[in-house]
Amino acid sequence: MRKPFIAANWKMNKTIGETKSFLDEFIPLVKDAKDVDIIIAPPFTSLGIASAMLKDTNIQLSAQDIFYEEKGAFTGEVSPVMLADAGCEHVIIGHSERRQYFHETDEIVNKKIKAARKQGLDVIFCIGESLEERESGKTLDVLEREVENGLKDVPADGIVVAYEPIWAIGTGKTATIEQAQEAHKYIRERLASIYGNKANEIRILYGGSVTPDNVDSLMACEDVDGALVGGASLKPDSFARIVKFKK
Ligand code: PGA
Repeated sequence: MRKPFIAANWKMNKTIGETKSFLDEFIPLVKDAKDVDIIIAPPFTSLGIASAMLKDTNIQLSAQDIFYEEKGAFTGEVSPVMLADAGCEHVIIGHSERRQYFHETDEIVNKKIKAARKQGLDVIFCIGESLEERESGKTLDVLEREVENGLKDVPADGIVVAYEPIWAIGTGKTATIEQAQEAHKYIRERLASIYGNKANEIRILYGGSVTPDNVDSLMACEDVDGALVGGASLKPDSFARIVKFKK
């Protein structure tokens, strides 16, 4: 049985004060939520306050990115050691916005995943096709390439995969249940070709315009094990409803 995994990706949103207000309201709303991993990924500047407030709660902390070196002259970057020190248990790697705006390649993503795992951080590894790739029938090829390159020489432990079709991110266009299940099933097959039976233990999240209104039907798909939520994770009541999805 794969435990559901529901993660909030706040992206470049919320000051320290706004993080505090959110958590003051959110923590009590989900305190009784059982059998689900709840993760929040605030911006770097809010990791400190979030880490302090999440201590002794059922909510885990994630960063949104990482650098692959341990320390040194890399102005502006944050290392795996620093993230663990700041209280992170997880880190999002390979988000399409990082690939698109910051030119992250599969090789960089692979280096980041290895560096995070070396430090004991669990990884939310993002993959997904663009609209153009979907329309030209390349979706499965893109997923295969991203899985194989991103996870090259990476053991299965501590890896969660997030399938995020780029055309569904922040657009209000969710993948249909059929599209999500087809992609997730294919990703699991690719994982099985790398990890064998262990692929059945790897959680595959769906991301892209997940809301309280569509989470139940997405979570009903056989190979959808959780959600990576952007816009709808910014309000406590909306994200709490997603965490408490109905089966
Ligand atoms: P969205 O973002 O829920 O706002 O579409 C999801 C993500 O990019 O992780």
